[in-house]
Amino acid sequence: MFETLSKAPGDKILALMGEYAADPRPTKIDLGVGVYKDEKGVTAVMSAVRKAEERILANEKTKTYLGIAGNKGFGSAVLDLVLADAVDRKRVRIAQAPGGTGSLWVLMQLVNRARPGATIWVSDPTWPNHMPIAENAGLTVKTYPYFDTETRGVKFADMLATLDKLGKDDVVLLHGCCHNPTGANLTNEQWDQVAASFARTGALPFIDLAYLGFGDGLLEDAYGTRKLLAAVPEALVAFSGSKNFGLYRERIGAAIILARDEASADIVNSQMLNVIRSSYSQPPDHGAEIIRTILEDKELRAEWEAELNAMRGRMIRLREKLSEAIRQRSNSKDFDFIAAHRGMFSLLGLPNETVEHLKAANGIYMIGDSRINVAGIPEDRIGDLAEAMLAATK
Ligand code: LMR
Repeated sequence: MFETLSKAPGDKILALMGEYAADPRPTKIDLGVGVYKDEKGVTAVMSAVRKAEERILANEKTKTYLGIAGNKGFGSAVLDLVLADAVDRKRVRIAQAPGGTGSLWVLMQLVNRARPGATIWVSDPTWPNHMPIAENAGLTVKTYPYFDTETRGVKFADMLATLDKLGKDDVVLLHGCCHNPTGANLTNEQWDQVAASFARTGALPFIDLAYLGFGDGLLEDAYGTRKLLAAVPEALVAFSGSKNFGLYRERIGAAIILARDEASADIVNSQMLNVIRSSYSQPPDHGAEIIRTILEDKELRAEWEAELNAMRGRMIRLREKLSEAIRQRSNSKDFDFIAAHRGMFSLLGLPNETVEHLKAANGIYMIGDSRINVAGIPEDRIGDLAEAMLAATK
């Protein structure tokens, strides 16, 4: 049977995690996988999460099945968090799914049921796992212009010109905030223009919302999603609780559908539930119950928001400090873009040889396309990092 197979390509982000773990140098720096780390370099369990888990353990009465759509309280709390009152909830359906990736997978399968082989447009560049998930679902992947390698900002005019030419059979994957891998994001005015473009063309917006709260704030980061959903008849959103609740290994996310009316929402939802039932049947509860417990409880929610704000503030401070350290040492503004970017990542725009050199010579690990995870920057070694980056790019 299996002699027909050849080796599948590895995942470059997860492979780098393994390489870093195997590196014996105590001075190594991990700017690779998108996992938040505190000042001690630890991905700690958030305190609100720990308290929610204690409550769950004390009060849980059953482990019976949840149902295909998952934890209902989680679903409504996530809709309140993501959409607030941006759209009429009668047109909205939500299903809990295993992480942001599982949510993307469910929704892409759903798109392929509606339009087999449809084209999904992804930003150039995008998270490297977007393409395989879409291709596995049977979709055709094309790219729209996004990152300007000169300015390290968004090539907005080119992006909009491409979106403006699309039609109702096209699907467009957008990063709701905190673009991965570039760190370059749309302004609110640009989101307004994107929303108007979708309203004109009828293309389907599909938002990947994996970093809500990591950019400028929970409300600020939801602007694009809310604006876009308010402007169009149909949309999809893949939400992740991996980063903002630090629940990576619990695999907790949600697939959200906006349909044109209530009747159509029921039909599309039935197909989504059928996708889920015929794959993993039903989701696990733990991560969802943690998020529900936090979001429904005033005190836990306030504690979670304070922790999230502190994480975001730390990432912004690290961005500013690294830009400043490079500016002081080089007398140039070449890396100032790191401070202007938002979210967990910045794409430095270095060639792969430089990335490899930094790893071999300095034990500095970043993704091969030169994406850094700013939360991995050790605050007490920013000077070393700045010097190594400057030496490697001279
Ligand atoms: C990343 O981009 O590093 C994260 O989303 C982790 C992953 O699964 O790739």
